[in-house]
Amino acid sequence: MFNKRLKIKALLASDDTGFEATVMGWVRTFRNNQFIALNDGSTNNNLQVVASLGLFEETTLKRLTTGACIKVTGEVVASLGKGQKVELKAASIEILGDSDAEKFPLQPKKHSLEFLREIAHLRFRTNTFGAIFRIRHSLAFAVHKFFNDKGFIYLHTPIITASDAEGAGEMFRVTTLPLDGSAPKNDDGSISFKEDFFGRSTNLTVSGQLEGELAAMAFSDVYTFGPTFRAENSNTARHLAEFWMIEPEVAFNDLEDNMNLAEAFIKYVIDYAMQHNKEDLEFLAQRLEEEEKQKPLAERSEMGLLDKLNFVVNNDFERLTYTEAIEILKESNHNKKKKFQYLIEGWGVDLQSEHERYLVEKHFKKPVILTDYPKNIKSFYMRLNEDGKTVAAMDILAPGIGEIVGGSQREERLDKLTARMKEMDIPAEELNWYLDTRRFGACPHAGFGLGFERLVQFVTGMGNIRDVIPFPRYPKSAEF
Ligand code: 4AD
Ligand code: MG
Repeated sequence: MFNKRLKIKALLASDDTGFEATVMGWVRTFRNNQFIALNDGSTNNNLQVVASLGLFEETTLKRLTTGACIKVTGEVVASLGKGQKVELKAASIEILGDSDAEKFPLQPKKHSLEFLREIAHLRFRTNTFGAIFRIRHSLAFAVHKFFNDKGFIYLHTPIITASDAEGAGEMFRVTTLPLDGSAPKNDDGSISFKEDFFGRSTNLTVSGQLEGELAAMAFSDVYTFGPTFRAENSNTARHLAEFWMIEPEVAFNDLEDNMNLAEAFIKYVIDYAMQHNKEDLEFLAQRLEEEEKQKPLAERSEMGLLDKLNFVVNNDFERLTYTEAIEILKESNHNKKKKFQYLIEGWGVDLQSEHERYLVEKHFKKPVILTDYPKNIKSFYMRLNEDGKTVAAMDILAPGIGEIVGGSQREERLDKLTARMKEMDIPAEELNWYLDTRRFGACPHAGFGLGFERLVQFVTGMGNIRDVIPFPRYPKSAEF
């Protein structure tokens, strides 16, 4: 019954007429008791289905409500309507699923993104979210294509781990122990995880990097692409508690190779979306332009979405050290006029997103790669530089987003790594397996992590990260 279905995208792409076709999809609108705008998700463009007057029972026509699912067979004919070459002249209409017009929350009008977030199970059926999730798909596909074409191995790292790869302590615990106070206890009153499912304390992974490094010491070039979890209480438009991260790890790469790989990667996936999602990007560009018109002139962005993406693909990212960035920030008028919430007074402080955005959006007006951060604000595994106070780290900052990539060359020297772990109170016994790579055939290597949702945000121009993942998880929210 269903296998003869023609996708609306394919139907609209050709100007062939005079043949019979069957389409299925959801009614967006039904006008004048005659014209159905039908969408099946293959494209944002609706197919116009014409239910000629007098041909269908009144009872059928009544059921052609917004949201209803139907199957239509008819002849593909040239369309007189504007904006489409062909339309379908319905010979038969079958209602596959009714949709009560009174109760269906999506009406053919503009809904706010906040409202749509509350009905995330239905928002796929809007133009905006149709476009976003087709682009998200393309970007995910492009990620795999980029690395596969370069001979990388896709590594599936564990979701449940016993380590805190970032050492930031922002982990969700995984346990089967009872929470009612009856969990087994140690002599000192603390919970005995020996009795827990894994016989130890476990959590959801914050990063697949450490396991990625193990595999890079055999395959040379690997990457992970999977969900990661952070219990940071950040209620912002750029943080999720569950997000997807891409983490390449490459043996024999130094920091510069790492930057080159990250820059080429970002340009490749953006270009891929521009080649394969033209219509959806144009739709979102238009949407953004209208949104921008609501803002005061001074706050509007100088470039439209497509110009911005083109610009990023075709221009080198600015590369500078943390130390140079601090100088720029310290000397900036913004700092002198005390416009930063956190004023830059000297070397060593962590950059806040206001500083990152100043560098990218005001100073350089392009993506920026910052390198060689103070060791005290970075993770234990980053390679110590000659100066003894900075590490071979790199963050990539993108306009409108801030940090999109975090990475580094790794500390491959066992003595330096264990010394650093000691300084940071990271117990070596727990990471013995990780240290083994430094004991047996260690080599210089580097990698980075790119937050997939931040990339999707950048490409779609969406202001809130909760709108680029199907079902966002954030503090006090895990619906659907
Ligand atoms: O900078 P982060 O914490 O780096 C790591 O996890 C390293 N292990 C990566 C590596 O070197 N293999 O996170 C990497 C990226 C950030 O730059 C950001 O894009 C994204 O992950 N990210 C988040 N995205 C959404 N919500 C959050 N809460 C995020 N935290 C990090
Ligand atoms: Mg980071």
